[in-house]
Amino acid sequence: MHQALSAPDDFAIVPGVSPQLYKSADFHRIAQLLKDEAGIVLSDKKTMLAYSRLAPLVRQSAKETFGEYLDLVEKDEVQRRKVVASLTTNHTYFNREPHHFEHFTNTVRDDIIKRSQNREKVRIWSAGSSSGEEIHTLMMYLLGENKAQGQKIARGDLRVLASDLADHAVCAAKAATYDAEAVSKMPEALRNVWCEVASGDPSCVTISPVITNLIRYRQLNLLRPWPFDGQFDVIFCRNVMIYFDEPTKVELVRRFAERLKPGGYLYIGHSERVAGPAVEVLKLVGATIYQKVKQ
Ligand SMILES: C[S@@+](CC[C@H](N)C(=O)[O-])C[C@H]1O[C@@H](n2cnc3c(N)ncnc32)[C@H](O)[C@@H]1O
Repeated sequence: MHQALSAPDDFAIVPGVSPQLYKSADFHRIAQLLKDEAGIVLSDKKTMLAYSRLAPLVRQSAKETFGEYLDLVEKDEVQRRKVVASLTTNHTYFNREPHHFEHFTNTVRDDIIKRSQNREKVRIWSAGSSSGEEIHTLMMYLLGENKAQGQKIARGDLRVLASDLADHAVCAAKAATYDAEAVSKMPEALRNVWCEVASGDPSCVTISPVITNLIRYRQLNLLRPWPFDGQFDVIFCRNVMIYFDEPTKVELVRRFAERLKPGGYLYIGHSERVAGPAVEVLKLVGATIYQKVKQ
């Protein structure tokens, strides 16, 4: 018999699915599934978090127990995708780790603008973009404080990808609508040009279509083959690898290094680092900023 997990006192029990129907073996199945599908490691401390995120899915499925629902998940790709997405951590905000945007503006931006205006293809990727704050921040810095100049930059040969594993995050990024309070973290001069008050609601802002029309928002699992060719000038993959184990991180940065143009930049989260064979080609040029050697 598997031991039932009890909910801590401060834990809100989801109506309709008692924690008595959630066994420790169920948590281990969920953790294994998340590791296999997305590379994300769930520690035992996340036992009740998994309960609260998955209980609504169990209820919707009309299955009586977590165990029965997990049997279904094994056979059903759509349910599996929902389970994985519901266990992702999508915390993000505008202008996060601003030293990256300072570096981009001072070191990378002019060259990118020059090349894209000369019809040389420039490619930027926010990998693990969550609800889009990161890519929208970066694009505001790229287009700059002058609207007419920004529109001219946007007419260059720029291809921008924002991808995430979780469908709900991709949808939010694509909607590009945020609380005015969230966007207040951006410098006023950029915000004034690239954020528009959403119609009928002054507490909401939408990112200008000059920016959103440049971005392809896609669901993509970083662990699987990437459905595109070519190399990028800039890759942001921040606060994504913290959830992965060491071999998964090493393999992912190896693949990023392969997909960077010589001289291209990789920006990672403040608690992340490049390890493994990629250290041979990725040179540390700032705090958690790497440049691919030019060869
Ligand atoms: C904490 S958010 C980071 C968002 C943003 N990059 C930032 O730093 O603010 C991590 C994101 O990585 C995504 N993610 C986790 N595992 C992934 C995987 N295997 N493939 C693609 N995205 C993944 C999650 O869905 C989540 O939205």
